[in-house]
Amino acid sequence: MKVYAHRGYSAKYPENTLAAFKACANLPIDGVEFDVHLTKDQHVVVIHDESINRTSNGEGVVKDFTLQELRAFDYGAWFGKEFEGEKIPTLSEVLEIFRGTKIRVNIEIKSDIFRYPGLEELVLQEVEAFQMTDQVVISSFDHEAVARIATFAPNVENAALFANAILEIEEYQKKIPAKALHVSLPSAFRRPIAKAIELGSTVRVYTVNEEEHAAHLLNTGVEAIFTDEVEKMLAFLEKH
Ligand code: G3P
Ligand code: CA
Repeated sequence: MKVYAHRGYSAKYPENTLAAFKACANLPIDGVEFDVHLTKDQHVVVIHDESINRTSNGEGVVKDFTLQELRAFDYGAWFGKEFEGEKIPTLSEVLEIFRGTKIRVNIEIKSDIFRYPGLEELVLQEVEAFQMTDQVVISSFDHEAVARIATFAPNVENAALFANAILEIEEYQKKIPAKALHVSLPSAFRRPIAKAIELGSTVRVYTVNEEEHAAHLLNTGVEAIFTDEVEKMLAFLEKH
């Protein structure tokens, strides 16, 4: 089973920061995952929530700030004083870290509360500019966004995110169409996901931080896990 660093190395570094990405780029991981939103002035930025409240010293929602305004806040100190000074990364800054490496880059398009018209196109433009179309997987819980990625860039790997396993998943996959399925840990054990694996789908599971859970996934055909506990999971899988 492969290891994808979830939001960078987020157990030890503030999630979705350059510190977290640089730390995991030096480890023998297979992939890295992070989340993107769009600023008021149409820059693609890397942050998990719609709002900056939880992971910065500012308040408000990403879409209401320009990039320059967002850069004024600190995105590291909430996690530990030694990370003070971390800025919100742009997609380009993160792509730059992984360009030329063997690490797959999973960009998750966020649109849980707000819609960002044009976000998929902007993400694809940046990926193409960095010549990383073969290195990325673009995923979303918003399956209309996944379908747009499939239409605009059929050669780019896309993935549909599922919090719950759905019945008739193969039929659904044809409609999107999703090349890979990124599923929650509980849904990974449900019959439709096992069936999708049997039928040849690539399945990756989030978020696996316990050895016991990783052990249950071994030999299920799951391709990869997303984990915050990068070194712990690398060490565990090295032994199994
Ligand atoms: O992409 C897998 C996982 O990151 C989805 O959940 O909430 O951590 O973005 P979340
Ligand atoms: Ca995510």
